[in-house]
Amino acid sequence: MTKVLVIHGPNLNLLGIREPAIYGDQNLETINDLIQKEAEALQLEVKIIQSNQEGVIVEAIHEAHTWGDAIVINPAGYTHTSVVIFDALEAVRLPAIEVHLSNVHAREAFRMKSLTARACVGVISGFGGLSYLLALRAAKDIVERKRQ
Ligand code: DQA
Repeated sequence: MTKVLVIHGPNLNLLGIREPAIYGDQNLETINDLIQKEAEALQLEVKIIQSNQEGVIVEAIHEAHTWGDAIVINPAGYTHTSVVIFDALEAVRLPAIEVHLSNVHAREAFRMKSLTARACVGVISGFGGLSYLLALRAAKDIVERKRQ
């Protein structure tokens, strides 16, 4: 079974109360339930983590190297700043999909720059919790095409 690591970056534990006009009113637990359900429907095994710490995210990416087939990552604010998350994604060479709840291109200029997207196959941005579900579909497709 294809195994996908889903990573939620900093402040995403506050979804539901954090700027609902931008991020919606679903909390992280609800989004994680939807991710689990979609994973079952797609016959994927998912592991989900959330961390506010860059080093923890880097270590999770390292662990995916031996455990997983693909990574779905919302690096949150680290998208725009983190060389170490970019380096970790490049190092493990697993197909990664960057996800954002909001449309980062319709917001402040600093959000239009992603350091991490360069290490990803693609970016899904602006669909709220659905962004993660679309990313799971993309991950399955990429991994299965590679196997053929
Ligand atoms: C975010 C967008 C980032 O710019 C922001 O720092 C976040 C969340 C999103 O999911 O829309 O924390 O990644």
